[in-house]
Amino acid sequence: MKNIILIGFMGVGKGSVAREVVKNSQYMAIDTDDLIESMENRRIKSIFESEGETYFRSLEKSVATWLEESVKNTLISTGGGFYKQKNLKKIGTIVLLDSPFDEIIKRIKAHPNAVKKLKKRPLLKDLKEAQKLYDARRPEYLKLADIVVDVTQKSAQACAKELLKKVKKNA
Ligand code: S3P
Repeated sequence: MKNIILIGFMGVGKGSVAREVVKNSQYMAIDTDDLIESMENRRIKSIFESEGETYFRSLEKSVATWLEESVKNTLISTGGGFYKQKNLKKIGTIVLLDSPFDEIIKRIKAHPNAVKKLKKRPLLKDLKEAQKLYDARRPEYLKLADIVVDVTQKSAQACAKELLKKVKKNA
């Protein structure tokens, strides 16, 4: 089993889909933000606040190197900017979770923990800036992806099923 790397914009549902994939397959899952938070023993928000984004990106780079060298048979859920790592293709099959910006924001706002979800993401603080970031990133996401799953208006379970089917076909 090749690794699966889940990429996509903040709030698109990478974590929820990853949990459903684990329930319905042999994959174990890890999350690059979780790895960084345990490496640093603090939250992403606090890393951004005290050290800045450049430092955070250097931590993502260390994680990317470790993933390539040491991780097999795993579903890897990533932070929205992790796709910039140069060795992504070497880590595994790249799956993009895709949805329009407005739908992503709607999805976050509909969540019972919406305030927390917005607060923990420094790059979602200003929605106008976030939209710009989305517009710049989306073509790059699409270019990199081996597989695209449109998650708009679909349950995490349905997305996970579609993902597994497409991965099997792609193998
Ligand atoms: C980021 C996305 C976040 C987190 C950090 C930066 C980004 O992860 O890695 O706040 O650059 O898009 P999620 O995509 O899980 O929100």
